[in-house]
Amino acid sequence: MNINYNEKERSFRLDAKDTSYMFKIVDDGYLCHVYYGKKVPDEDLGYLLRLDESPKTPRENMRDKATFMDTLPFEYSCFGLGDYRESCIKIVDQNGCTTVDLRYVSHRIYKGKPALAGLPATFVNNDDEASTLEITCIDKPTGLQATLFYTAFTNLDVITRSITLKNTGEKPIEITRVLSACVDFDDDCYDMITLNGSWARERHMERAPLHHGKQSIDSIKGESSHQNNPFAALVSHNADEDMGEAFGFNFVYSGNFFAQAEVTQHKKTRFVMGINPLDFGWKLESGEEFVAPEVVMVHSDSGIGKMSRTFHDLYRQNLIRGEYKDKRRPVLINNWEATYFNFDTDKLISIAKEASKLGIEMLVMDDGWFGHRESDNSSLGDWFVNEKKIKGGLKYLVDEVNKLGMKFGIWFEPEMVSPDSELYKAHPDWAIQVKNRELTMSREQYILDFSRKEVRDYVYSMMKNILDSANIEYIKWDMNRQVTEPGSLALPPERQREIWHRYVLGVYDLMNRLTTDYPHILLENCSGGGARFDPGMLYYSPQIWTSDDTDAIERLKIQHGTSLCYPCSAMGAHVSDCPNHTVGRNTPFKTRGHVAMVGTFGYELDVTKIPEEDRNSIPGQIEEFNKYNALVRTGDHYRIGNTFENIEWDAWMFVAKDKSEALFEFVQILARPNYRSRRIKLKGLDPDAYYYEESEPDRKISGAALMNAGINIAKIWNGDGIYGDFSSKILHFIKA
Ligand code: GLA
Repeated sequence: MNINYNEKERSFRLDAKDTSYMFKIVDDGYLCHVYYGKKVPDEDLGYLLRLDESPKTPRENMRDKATFMDTLPFEYSCFGLGDYRESCIKIVDQNGCTTVDLRYVSHRIYKGKPALAGLPATFVNNDDEASTLEITCIDKPTGLQATLFYTAFTNLDVITRSITLKNTGEKPIEITRVLSACVDFDDDCYDMITLNGSWARERHMERAPLHHGKQSIDSIKGESSHQNNPFAALVSHNADEDMGEAFGFNFVYSGNFFAQAEVTQHKKTRFVMGINPLDFGWKLESGEEFVAPEVVMVHSDSGIGKMSRTFHDLYRQNLIRGEYKDKRRPVLINNWEATYFNFDTDKLISIAKEASKLGIEMLVMDDGWFGHRESDNSSLGDWFVNEKKIKGGLKYLVDEVNKLGMKFGIWFEPEMVSPDSELYKAHPDWAIQVKNRELTMSREQYILDFSRKEVRDYVYSMMKNILDSANIEYIKWDMNRQVTEPGSLALPPERQREIWHRYVLGVYDLMNRLTTDYPHILLENCSGGGARFDPGMLYYSPQIWTSDDTDAIERLKIQHGTSLCYPCSAMGAHVSDCPNHTVGRNTPFKTRGHVAMVGTFGYELDVTKIPEEDRNSIPGQIEEFNKYNALVRTGDHYRIGNTFENIEWDAWMFVAKDKSEALFEFVQILARPNYRSRRIKLKGLDPDAYYYEESEPDRKISGAALMNAGINIAKIWNGDGIYGDFSSKILHFIKA
């Protein structure tokens, strides 16, 4: 077993592939963090705690327990006891008091990993993949029992954490804060990397050295958000893609979150992550339980790149599920940027006809097919076909598309309701709202109260009617606004603060029903582009729309940032028309294809209208996508360029797990005058093997030379012979 308990030292040791994580039970039953980092052989490193130094343990120094509490590295810090750093848990007890004091009671170690009731979480495919440690603690005065869960994966540098609370007392307890993970590092020598942005600019990477005080990211929008992703990494100051230490944290949750690094008075760092405590509340009646979502922690001793590849492997094997988990996704064409709301059956069939000739495999009908929706101001919630647009009905349209040899996919925004809809007129109380307060509109819509089962049931019955009426093989599940007036007309006053989490649980419940009842449907999540690109969503859908920004050059940053912890196989990426609808940029069709090939690949344009030359290059582009997709989906991803620092060029690679082949992609962003060639060092190859580039089979170069000396990227000439910005090139290296 890769988790052990040392009875004599009362210490726990968790070993992931090349990582050790250690903590121990100290005086009075507090759980004290000892070490997290590269694997070490020692059973116990308790000497690191310096408990013999001042301040001594509580028993030895009764006079000043508070100093002990404020300096002890805690595994899970409690509010009110003298630990003035960020707390993980806070309650309101039957007396209205907020102190909570969790002490060790017992533990259990076993093979495998348990599921988290009602929540997405990483899983094991067989019990040998991981071991789990459960530690039960109790707050004696209230009877609040906490179980801390730790799972260590044997073949990945991954440790996951979560916590379950149970009220074993007689009186209700209100939980006002319950974070899922806390790591107390012994120094402050780290940079914090976060993924930040906005609509059409999601997950831009930011990096800054830690400083005294608290630096945090969060979401209080009801979803993980465009602005901050529930990911953060602490990396050594010298860490780059290939060297240095990196600790990555990712929250498997799609609602309000909070992540914070705090540099303390003694220049130590406490990192915490969990549900955002702001406006959170959960009442636990006697006997009731609360399950907090999971935090995935990845350690890398060889830079940020290795951290990312560990996340990618974990998510591809142990988070993403379903039929498409290991499959190439069909090349789709989506009509959103092609038509927006202005389409009908004839238009869609004309797109499908042209697309099918070019080798495109699926037509996705985006927003605007239901109720009387002609723009974004109506009909959400009325999930029945608008036969004025979809003349002949949905089945007719789908059959016609199928006859062309193409699959058919459809867009829904299940969580929403337009004020101008039959649903809202019949059930105005079904919107998330606060009694007697005006409801704030956003994109002319409200959010349905998914904490209510009857609301979910009704929406699902409408979706089912549509899905059962025709051969639908793909769903784009969208979510286009954030929560305001957080409240539910169905919850009593003392449970109003539960709305945030209950809403997210409701979304998960409906996604679970959908994926269980329709296992063959490919589900793609989306939220105004990429506002819900989080591991919670990946548990239900193997791919997520990365951003509404489809410009190839903007996508370099977005996809680079996203790849920090999410696999490329999950990134929705399409070739769109130019000038690009978001930034107005013109880029070569070829480059748009090369950049979209990093993700799931498809088209988002009116194929009947684009320039003939572009249209004619689609079959070749699809062939190229098909040729490399297995490598992209299953290989190791190496970032070479970094457009956050260098806007002249970008490059990256996908290397087969057995290192037998590699795809190298290069994008010239801004052309430089009078330069001849640029040398770029490859990554991830077998140094002892020889490789040739597919177009030059006679020139064999060692992996060592390709990685240490590099290759020459000559001037790039794009299709029409103009040297210039935004051109791209791919090279395929094969082991000789
Ligand atoms: C969101 C999505 C888009 C499109 C529109 C439709 O913005 O991100 O791809 O589906 O909604 O309204």
